[in-house]
Amino acid sequence: MVSKYQLFINGEWVSSESGETFTRVNPADPDEVIGNFQKGNAIDTEKAIDSAESAFDSWSDTPAPKRAEYIFKASQLLSENKDELSQIMTREMGKTLLDASADVQEAINVGFYAAGEGKRLFGYTVPSEKSNKFAMTVRLPIGVAGLISPWNFPIAIPAKKVFYSLICGNTAVLKPASDAPLCATKLVELVEKAGIPKGVLNLVTGPGETVGMALIRDKRVKVISFTGHKDTGAVILREAGLKRLNLEMGGKNPIVVMDDADLKLAVNGVLWGGFETTGQRCTASSRVIVHEKIKEDFEAMLIDQVRRLRLGNGLDPKTDIGPLVNKAAQDKVGRYVEIGKSEGAKLLKGGAVPKDLKGYFFEPTVFTDCTVKMRIAQEEIFGPVISIFSAGDLDEAIEIANSVEYGLSSSIYTKNISNAFIAINKLQAGLTYVNSPTIGAECHLPFGGMKHSGNTREDGPEGIKEFTESKTVYIDYSGKLQKTYIE
Ligand code: UN1
Repeated sequence: MVSKYQLFINGEWVSSESGETFTRVNPADPDEVIGNFQKGNAIDTEKAIDSAESAFDSWSDTPAPKRAEYIFKASQLLSENKDELSQIMTREMGKTLLDASADVQEAINVGFYAAGEGKRLFGYTVPSEKSNKFAMTVRLPIGVAGLISPWNFPIAIPAKKVFYSLICGNTAVLKPASDAPLCATKLVELVEKAGIPKGVLNLVTGPGETVGMALIRDKRVKVISFTGHKDTGAVILREAGLKRLNLEMGGKNPIVVMDDADLKLAVNGVLWGGFETTGQRCTASSRVIVHEKIKEDFEAMLIDQVRRLRLGNGLDPKTDIGPLVNKAAQDKVGRYVEIGKSEGAKLLKGGAVPKDLKGYFFEPTVFTDCTVKMRIAQEEIFGPVISIFSAGDLDEAIEIANSVEYGLSSSIYTKNISNAFIAINKLQAGLTYVNSPTIGAECHLPFGGMKHSGNTREDGPEGIKEFTESKTVYIDYSGKLQKTYIE
């Protein structure tokens, strides 16, 4: 029997007005159906927004330290259910169990951090130019938040959007990716179990074109937080009208390997950054820019390691690389491999769908002798494909690194402190790692990109800004009219 899941609107689990459902299968074994989910539509979304709007006054009036108690409880429940949630995640979207457990752990850490914000939500005070006048800022909620989350971090990313929006006093409607609706449903079940008042958090599964679009266009939704493809981000920018838009999009993240780097460390970093989550991270290390002096050695060491990677079902502890999320992703990676070959890049390893596995797998793939104009050097593939470039010095490496429209994450391997600081200064990216790969951001520091990677920072103190209005307050206790800038 396939389990059937529902929408969560105004504190009730309900079926969609559409009367339709969709199924999700295990990408490692497409014969296994994960569940039947409601194909939500515009009417469901409108009801969810009604519910979030009705709950707003009472939730935003609840003191933030009290709001924190629900988030704290939900985080505890996530922790208690970590193993089960990790298993569900691996079955639902394919990442290995180790990777899935890190995803759940990130959600737990995000929850505890956000709950702590209930006792901070800092504004600041500054001296006024006038006597007997007090000046300060306070942070206020924005209103109903529309949260549109991806499938690649199916618990961590919805959790951060939910916890940050709620701690700031907003109410929310979550629309998760249709490739990972079960993880989002489980998250919402735990938030419900934590006792969240009805209407504060709502869940509508269903297509982006209907549910997502209804959220984006509704004037009552005052803030959107979106993580996903840049083309969808562009649609949101076009369709949303005047509301707060927080967009986290793609990346084409470079690792620069200098001739003074610890090569073994760099190879391990490239393997982890390029192939963890089967390369399906916006932070994936999809480009490697290697100093020409060490390129041959580096490539030999890398290929030797890539050869050892084991593809398989993520539930098997021996598996290093799970499947891609669906057939379309597998086809897309295949298309990019053909593009790379036709552009003249040299295929060093991989490049094919393995014959002996029935899920949506793709071999870990390494191209070399890439040049910046190639499409495989510019476009986000979102799969296990690494493109290697050669550079004569750091300046050239940085020029190659910055030659893309994206600017999310970046990295340099070097033992030279000047190289490291030059890279920190010059790499156009929201994150720069020194001697570690481009993935693995910690959830209490700001996360987000420059250029076409996004327009915001999630996480840490910056994450609070995503979901609050800043109000400036002047309190004049002089008892007279004091005219600003006039003595
Ligand atoms: C994403 O892929 O959308 O730093 C975000 C990392 C992850 C973030 C990935 N924590 O790799």
